[in-house]
Amino acid sequence: MQTIRQLPDLRDAVSGFRAAGERVAFVPTMGALHAGHMALVAEAKLAAPRVIVSIFVNPKQFAPGEDLARYPRKEQADSRMLAAAGVDLLWMPPVEVMYPEGHATNIAVTGVSEPLDGAARPGHFDGVATVVAKLFNQVKPDIALFGEKDFQQLAVIRRMVADLDFDIDVRGVPTQRDDDGLALSSRNVYLAPEDRASAVALPRALGVAARAIEKGDDAQAALATARASLEAAGFDVDYVELVDAASLGTPVAGQPRRLLAAARIAGTRLIDNVSVAEPE
Ligand code: PAF
Repeated sequence: MQTIRQLPDLRDAVSGFRAAGERVAFVPTMGALHAGHMALVAEAKLAAPRVIVSIFVNPKQFAPGEDLARYPRKEQADSRMLAAAGVDLLWMPPVEVMYPEGHATNIAVTGVSEPLDGAARPGHFDGVATVVAKLFNQVKPDIALFGEKDFQQLAVIRRMVADLDFDIDVRGVPTQRDDDGLALSSRNVYLAPEDRASAVALPRALGVAARAIEKGDDAQAALATARASLEAAGFDVDYVELVDAASLGTPVAGQPRRLLAAARIAGTRLIDNVSVAEPE
């Protein structure tokens, strides 16, 4: 696996793949890799002969006071995992390569980025859209893979790709979970053992609410029950909402729906989501 930190070297390597007629699948990450990321890499390997992974902890998607400084950084372990998985190229730009002096462009995707995490974390999705657009222009992939755990992020990126005419096939990969159901996340390392034990209330509450809505129970009542069970488990709830899976707005009869939640336990903010089928 080549590890590249400068843009001209990346462009040379990608041109080499292109000259050989090889398609490129891309997995953008912020590192601290876990089995969720490796599932994206496995899908990428199936999708194209060349796989590029980026690791860049993007300061623009963290608000002041969020966990940028303590976000886990595990360069060597990450690099070993990616090499063992058969990744061709690891793109690890320093911050001054990504955002050189004078960088002044911001991408704001309206609509899908506004509710839910967009309301709870103002500016977050501008930071995500801006860095992902830059990564796409740097790597020029044919296919890009994102986890469905960050369901709103995936919707924002799909919107941006359509609106800005990126010729990239964006694919979502199902959330990977621990045995007890907690969605894998780089932030799970922040959880003390007792908080990790309580955190399982998040996927459980979503599962119970989704099943209740699917069997025709009142959705608002099911959401209120989910919120109450999270609070009983020690969570501070940002939101528990049922939305249209494409627009993330009000659910539309007959269209796919998604149940999303964000909540903090002992200061660690966790997000999760599940699909909700039509009532039986
Ligand atoms: O999901 C992430 O790890 C990040 O938001 C991403 C897509 C790599 C952009 O920084």
